[in-house]
Amino acid sequence: MKDKIILAIETSCDETSIAIVKNKKEILAHVINSQADKFKEIGGVVPEMASRMHVDNIFPVYIQALKEANITIDEIDAIAVTYGPGLVGALLCGVNFANSLSMLTNKPLIAVNHMQGHIQALNINDEIVYPALALIVSGGHTELVYMPKAKEYQIIGQTLDDAAGESYDKVARILKLGYPGGPLIDQLAKTGIDNYDLPYPKNDESYDFSFSGLKSACFNLVNQQQMKNIEIRKADFACSFQNRVVEVLLNKLSRANDELNPATVGIVGGVSANSELKKRAKAMLPEIKIPQLIYSTDNAAMIAMAAFDELEDGNFVDSVANAKPTISVEDKWQN
Ligand code: KG4
Ligand code: ZN
Repeated sequence: MKDKIILAIETSCDETSIAIVKNKKEILAHVINSQADKFKEIGGVVPEMASRMHVDNIFPVYIQALKEANITIDEIDAIAVTYGPGLVGALLCGVNFANSLSMLTNKPLIAVNHMQGHIQALNINDEIVYPALALIVSGGHTELVYMPKAKEYQIIGQTLDDAAGESYDKVARILKLGYPGGPLIDQLAKTGIDNYDLPYPKNDESYDFSFSGLKSACFNLVNQQQMKNIEIRKADFACSFQNRVVEVLLNKLSRANDELNPATVGIVGGVSANSELKKRAKAMLPEIKIPQLIYSTDNAAMIAMAAFDELEDGNFVDSVANAKPTISVEDKWQN
């Protein structure tokens, strides 16, 4: 079969990323321009600023990717782009760039679901064997997804309020650590002791999650201590908070794994970069798959991997793609 090369674009939040991937295997180029540093001082992503930075960055990132792969756009077989979920303005930058590129070059366009992309990151340097089970833990989502076969995604549980990454970011703000909170809490927790009395959020028999109660408990405890002029031991606090989150995530993943007995079990999304989650997940299920750090957080290589599934099915965009900011992992592009 002839080689197939996809150029994939990701702009759903604060990373402008383009990857060029051959035959769902070989990453010829992968450029990620992260805006995280710019949002550090502000303490979170400002959607309009993110969109404006994507506008500034996308063309240079595109040129850099072609250069890195040492190919021309003529050698690409299809263009892929994240169409949702994500920030609407940010998504539109990538989608509009992809629409124009597809029209100018007459190359087919593939619209990719960002959450399916996170799961397909497990196929980079590895292989998903079906049936598969994935825990998606990112800044906007916390979901347990069962895949009876390739290209079929079923949510079996999800957060009822905050996502796991969101709770890391919010607790980091309460502790005045900075943004993004996940890596900062992760680092700090390594030097702490779990000695703060925080609740285990929704540690029940369901597959759903809830992190807003834990966040409120953190907020209230910090406030009470401050009123009493008691200094917060930030490392201990970070360690206690992280242990609650990791414990509940792994309890539910482990039960789903026992019940469904999948051939592959994985953890994906930004929070899967967490060192404690990784360590305990591997101790619990040695065969568990977790993407390399660079493929855990938002990146275009995972979007290219998911795009190969659509290419196989001939699921191309008929006229133009548009952003769909609230789609679920179960959704596919519909013309
Ligand atoms: O998947 P992602 O890059 O973007 C979304 O699609 O949301 O996830 C970003 C989230 C942020 O909330 C960030 O704090 C969290 O992933 N994160 C982490 C770690 N690295 C990133 N959370 C815990 N520990 C980490 N090491
Ligand atoms: Zn993401």
